[in-house]
Amino acid sequence: METPSGKTILSGIQPSGTLHIGNYLGALKQWVELQKDNTTYYCIVDLHAVTVPYNPKVFSERVLDAVAMYLACGVDPDKSVIFIQSNVSAHSELAWLLGTMTPFGELSRMTQFKDKAAKQKTSTSLGLFAYPVLMAADILLYKPDLVPVGEDQTQHVELTRNIAQRFNNTFGEVFTLPNAYIPKSTARIMSLTDASRKMSKSDGEKTYVALSDSPDIIRKKIMSAVTETEPVFSFEKSGPAVQNLLAIYEAMTNKDSATIEQELSGKGYKEFKEMLAEAVIEKVRPIREQYELLRKDDTELRIVLGRGAQRASQIANTTLHLVKEKMGLL
Ligand code: TYM
Repeated sequence: METPSGKTILSGIQPSGTLHIGNYLGALKQWVELQKDNTTYYCIVDLHAVTVPYNPKVFSERVLDAVAMYLACGVDPDKSVIFIQSNVSAHSELAWLLGTMTPFGELSRMTQFKDKAAKQKTSTSLGLFAYPVLMAADILLYKPDLVPVGEDQTQHVELTRNIAQRFNNTFGEVFTLPNAYIPKSTARIMSLTDASRKMSKSDGEKTYVALSDSPDIIRKKIMSAVTETEPVFSFEKSGPAVQNLLAIYEAMTNKDSATIEQELSGKGYKEFKEMLAEAVIEKVRPIREQYELLRKDDTELRIVLGRGAQRASQIANTTLHLVKEKMGLL
């Protein structure tokens, strides 16, 4: 897939704990590539993270962790606008306005909502239900062409397009209809212990490699990843567990699939996992080291966020103003 240029891009990640290689390959890696020749806005969606139980005492630290991880992965504050969602009040305000034109039925069909609601023991909040409307607001305020995300977010981007279209038809053209930007091979990185489930921080330590994991931990996790019974290394014909490991290997080494299949022919799973572990360790090492450095002092991070909030607010408030005008608000 050729990297686009001259476009406006927006994306966000929740600051709900450690970021893992699924977040990196599904989203952050693309963010870094896209910032070269596009106008890029990247936010930390803290208001989304508080729709599920969380610890307010350490939450601001988790937000700073996420910013540090963006920077450590190569997101560059001189090229991209990096900001915290709750620092730009236009996001919540537009979410309310868009909520007035979002059918209950459409929101009830969102799979992420259904999954999260099923996991909650107490009753589900309005915030969790309205989560995709806030995401639509995040996106539409910046009129982006593309939204780089993993496959699990396509349904939300589709909903965003529907909301934008409905607004434009009812009140007049304001919004650009965005498209999800999803590189195929890393669109959905699966769990290391169950290839039928997406890699996710909520499924337990052994299921994912965190970007902050040490080489020893990475090696342990990869060596105990599930494989198939027969050692077949084929991007087309291997079972899902091995296809997932191959996709990670391909993305981490930047080798093409034919070269990899040739390299692995005649090898066993143990040998492959050792190679994979080394490839992941080498990719993650500089990210972790940079992250640890950035996390020693908040000052730099806070400056980046202050500047980001200011720049994002200018754009967001201009769109919000236009929306209010079109909706007839005085
Ligand atoms: P979140 O915080 O769950 O995930 C952040 C990004 O990582 C991608 N991702 C994956 N990609 C491939 N394989 C995986 N196993 C994997 N797990 C996560 C996600 O697709 C996502 O791109 N609702 C969003 C956050 C959000 C947002 C936005 C995104 C809020 N507003 C506006 C884009 C634009 C979410 O929960 O992502």
